[in-house]
Amino acid sequence: MASAIDTQKEIQKLSIDGGSHIDTSIDELDDDEIIEGINFVNYRDESQIESVMRLVGRDLSEPYSVFTYRYFLHRFPQLCIFAVPSEDKSENVEPIGCVVCKIDPEDNDDVATINEAGGGSSSTPPDVEKEARLCGYIGMLAVDTSYRRSGIGFALVKRAVRRMKDLGCSSVILETEVSNKAAMKLYEERFGFMREEFLSRYYLNNGDAYRLRLWLK
Ligand SMILES: CC(C)(COP(=O)(O)OP(=O)(O)OC[C@H]1O[C@@H](n2cnc3c(N)ncnc32)[C@H](O)[C@@H]1OP(=O)(O)O)[C@@H](O)C(=O)NCCC(=O)NCCS
Repeated sequence: MASAIDTQKEIQKLSIDGGSHIDTSIDELDDDEIIEGINFVNYRDESQIESVMRLVGRDLSEPYSVFTYRYFLHRFPQLCIFAVPSEDKSENVEPIGCVVCKIDPEDNDDVATINEAGGGSSSTPPDVEKEARLCGYIGMLAVDTSYRRSGIGFALVKRAVRRMKDLGCSSVILETEVSNKAAMKLYEERFGFMREEFLSRYYLNNGDAYRLRLWLK
């Protein structure tokens, strides 16, 4: 069983070496991850932060500071994936979709509390309880309005979840606004994320949220 300190060291290592041991060019893809006319590419460098901010910022109910973006992108560059139109061959091609994630140590208290309260515990494998584990976190996901409903959001999340699993995560969590029907359907119906917690007035606009979790086998 990994200790919390081991887990922290592991995360530090992942963020320092950028997960470079993962050869993202050989991600094994399912058919539903291949979208005609769209390429999926990895975050490259700081010059792309503005693109991410533009894309993600349009739909946010509260703005993130540039430091938040930097935190995610600098520490976990391998967990920022862009969707770009394949006909655009320029080096600074503007992404039309992106997913941005990170990895944290599992919050064991949360898991224990959920299990004791009986909420959402049916999906919690017993061997995960009270063990120091890595937990993936989807921080940002956005697809440009004119490219929506063609499978890009799904393909981005699927790639990100696979990478977090490859990096040793036992689950992936995220928060989404209760009123965000598109995101709720995407995560719950297409991926099987479970509602773990209701977060009353979680956002600055007073919007309620759910914390959703997907256990990875
Ligand atoms: C959520 C979002 C990323 C989905 O991107 P997308 O590329 O349009 O999604 P996909 O085409 O891959 O759809 C995948 C699934 O999501 C759900 N979905 C997506 N858009 C939907 C909509 N408008 N209404 C209902 N369900 C929707 C469906 O379950 C869909 O599967 P289906 O096509 O088999 O029905 C996109 O709507 C978006 O950028 N929204 C604004 C930002 C946002 O809300 N991000 C999530 C924050 S947690």
